[in-house]
Amino acid sequence: MRDHLIIFDTTLRDGEQSPGASMTKEEKVRIARQLERMGVDVIEAGFPAASNGDFEAVKAVADTIKDSVVCGLARAIENDINRAGEALCGANAARIHTFIATSPIHMKNKLRMSPEQVVEQAVKAIKWARRYTDNVEFSPEDAGRSEINFLCRVLEAVIDAGAKTLNIPDTVGYTMPDQFGELIRTLRERIPNSDKVIFSVHCHNDLGLAVANSLSAVINGARQVECTINGLGERAGNAALEEVVMAVRTRQDFFPCDTRIDTTHIVPASKLVSGITGFPVQPNKAIVGANAFAHESGIHQDGVLKHRETYEIMRAEDVGWGANKLLLGKHSGRNAFRSRLKELGIEFESEELLNTMFVRFKDLADKKHEIFDEDLHALVSDEVQTPEEHYRLLSLTAHSETGETPFARVVIAAGSNELHAESEGSGPVDATFRAIEKILHSGAELQLFSVNNITSGTDAQGEVTVRLQKSGRIVNGQGADTDIVVASAKAYLSAFNKLYSRLEKAHPQV
Ligand code: KIV
Ligand code: ZN
Repeated sequence: MRDHLIIFDTTLRDGEQSPGASMTKEEKVRIARQLERMGVDVIEAGFPAASNGDFEAVKAVADTIKDSVVCGLARAIENDINRAGEALCGANAARIHTFIATSPIHMKNKLRMSPEQVVEQAVKAIKWARRYTDNVEFSPEDAGRSEINFLCRVLEAVIDAGAKTLNIPDTVGYTMPDQFGELIRTLRERIPNSDKVIFSVHCHNDLGLAVANSLSAVINGARQVECTINGLGERAGNAALEEVVMAVRTRQDFFPCDTRIDTTHIVPASKLVSGITGFPVQPNKAIVGANAFAHESGIHQDGVLKHRETYEIMRAEDVGWGANKLLLGKHSGRNAFRSRLKELGIEFESEELLNTMFVRFKDLADKKHEIFDEDLHALVSDEVQTPEEHYRLLSLTAHSETGETPFARVVIAAGSNELHAESEGSGPVDATFRAIEKILHSGAELQLFSVNNITSGTDAQGEVTVRLQKSGRIVNGQGADTDIVVASAKAYLSAFNKLYSRLEKAHPQV
């Protein structure tokens, strides 16, 4: 029997700490459902003490998810642990993850605590967390730069206090793969009670080594890897889930363990996270990049055609490329539509909303013959993120012609009012945004405008992300349409609605 390598996904917590990647409660629940479907063992849903929005989002995930453990992060202080415990009380299986820094630089300059105080606080935190659950994880923050004797001392004490998982973070992405693997081996050998816990790793990608470091740790006995979809995360990000999982799966001759991930859900998860956060995936990104399985050179193409394994070590369909089977079309009925959405983990609170979505689906099917799962996700994102009371695009006329100044006219609904504006611009999108701004006067700074095709072909929907910044608040809006100027207008309005919405971001980034 192979060992089980636990996959701990922190897209909703560390991933959300990427500037501009904050998500709403609803968005977090959608991603959590996809992670559950994929077979992720532990979903770190957020940091409940960070804000009321984060608390509510962790609670919503905990109340929804049945097949994965739901985890909340807490500093090693009572109030944080209480908030995590309360947010997780509805979970089928809950974990509290508590942390305190152990490196000399963090203890001295950030915590202003002596090593003795740090040990004492860590032990107290574990005991406190166990009032809520037996499933307690401890992280010595900045372990990669901590002194080994002190690390062994803290970890031995927290195991005695009842921690079940010891997570070793390379918080600043400083270690080298051999060194990090060696660290895990040394801790397992030197800590007398180390056999009572599972060793986990949490690597950041500042030197591009997060996945390499995680895999080196696995070779040296770590049996949990903390990672994120698309490698999202603080600064340069965390280890990418898809890379860790596929390295272990593809090299079963090398690793003594395997995950329980259904890898065919990887690409849909990547697209969902990218769509919601507005962080595009680079084309040459391993596993989930658009070119990850594309062969350009004639020699490679010839080789693959003759015998696939000449240049391919994985099959595209095994990671979910092409898994977005064409299931719906213009003639599909409401039940087929509803059940496909259900399979995708999307359910609506009211029949009325389902009906609205069905009408929009039919409109799309008229323009685009083949409707893929990604189209459905985009449709839902469009609808769910535009609550009734907000601004909505009613109509748009955009004109562009060689030699002429581009021009746009928009009509926007605001409650029962219809607002009209028109503007010229350097292109149809610019003219559209200027016209919208004539109505909104948001004064927000446009930080990002990106367009991606949701599926292939010129009839594909374009998915546009607009990132706006105002008074330190950063929001992403998405819009999808077969017409990318319309998609752009929807994305702008969606971002504006979020900027002024009463819906609190789970993790407000200021
Ligand atoms: O990078 C880090 O050290 C963390 C901890 C909270 C685990 O994210
Ligand atoms: Zn981290």
